[in-house]
Amino acid sequence: MKQDMIVILDLGSTENTVLARQIRDMGVYSEIHPHDITVEELKALDNVKGIILNGGENRVVDGQAVEIRPELYGLGYPMISVDYPGSACETQLQKLPDEEALRHFVFNICRAQANWNMKNFIEDQVELIRRQVGDGKVLLALSGGVDSSVVAALLIKAIGKQLVCVHVNHGLMRKNESESVIQVFRDQLHANLIYVDASERFLGKLKNVADPEQKRKIIGGEFIRVFEEEARKLEGIEFLGQGTIYPDIIESGTKTAKMVKSHHNVGGLPEDLQFKLVEPLKQLFKDEVRACGIELGLPHSMVYRQPFPGPGLGVRCLGAITRDRLEAVRESDAILREEFEKAGLDKKVWQYFTVVPDFKSVGVKNNARCFDYMVIIRAINTIDAMSASIERIDWDVLQRITERILAEVENVNRVCYDMSPKPPATIEFE
Ligand code: XMP
Repeated sequence: MKQDMIVILDLGSTENTVLARQIRDMGVYSEIHPHDITVEELKALDNVKGIILNGGENRVVDGQAVEIRPELYGLGYPMISVDYPGSACETQLQKLPDEEALRHFVFNICRAQANWNMKNFIEDQVELIRRQVGDGKVLLALSGGVDSSVVAALLIKAIGKQLVCVHVNHGLMRKNESESVIQVFRDQLHANLIYVDASERFLGKLKNVADPEQKRKIIGGEFIRVFEEEARKLEGIEFLGQGTIYPDIIESGTKTAKMVKSHHNVGGLPEDLQFKLVEPLKQLFKDEVRACGIELGLPHSMVYRQPFPGPGLGVRCLGAITRDRLEAVRESDAILREEFEKAGLDKKVWQYFTVVPDFKSVGVKNNARCFDYMVIIRAINTIDAMSASIERIDWDVLQRITERILAEVENVNRVCYDMSPKPPATIEFE
């Protein structure tokens, strides 16, 4: 292995990630593992230079204080504990060490090398993936999102054609999105890529369905069904690649952290498809995933793309989806993205998109009355998507976008700008 590692054992601290990031910022790789890790599991991790037992407010679960396995103390690793009364470590701290104390532990006591960088991370993961997979085959649902794209690129580097990527186009993708997945992965990276155009099937299922929750359920459920059908056609697949990243694991609840929300990346597939999971990004934070993607040669536009909901344009074509309005959302979104890029706003604004409501308003076109749809533009900034403020877009930019939408998008006679912060409005409309 290329890089040294400091292991953080999660004993209910809410600050495991803060600590891991602090150590990584010093150039030393750090991973967080559950408190009940076994000696075998610990020994299977390469290059562990030291362990931090990180206790805290959630250390009591169901009335019982969680403890590490006592055998871990006898293994000879340098260890310190933080906020963990009962620990057998020589150095017991009440609170997280300051930077100087942490550096002392990492570099002087553990004698770790500052050799954490993306190149080494990738080399290590390539070796670990090859070790795990052997000559087996891995299946991956490649949506074209940042996480699945980076996993795909990493797996291609590690095992080439032993990876089978399935890209399902649910018909709710942005303009040229599926084309770009095919171009990058099939043409440039020579991936073994199965492209499934399921647009008609999805639109059929969604016909006349207006309720947002129902729409999301149908899209999510159908996605799994299509993927499953493809998986059953293939033979000899033992592994499933997943773009799980560290925040997904925290949000789905660790052994001591409370569950925030169930996440689509963790679990999700039916039990009877018995795959072993390959999740090489599960210890990375989002910015590190992006750096990994760039190092692997993925295009900037793919790695730095703005967040896009799983149900895609389906939740931006409001109410029951119709083809004409879906086209209006897709075309207006493409214009918005193009103009934002020209104005340099794509690097500044966190998320921006258009929606088309399911009602018409009166207008005039070519001296005649028309009755057409409206496009609403939304552009927001946020840190964590829990709250958001609107972007104050330059009037000239807004005017240019409006003119283009009115001239180029069919069935539209009105453009509005959404001024609402979150709360009370959510970022998406559905
Ligand atoms: P809201 O609308 O709840 O959205 O303010 C917060 C953020 O989450 C994104 N979003 C989703 N992402 N699957 C996803 O992967 C989804 O079903 C989904 N719904 C909303 C939304 O775009 C925003 O960035």
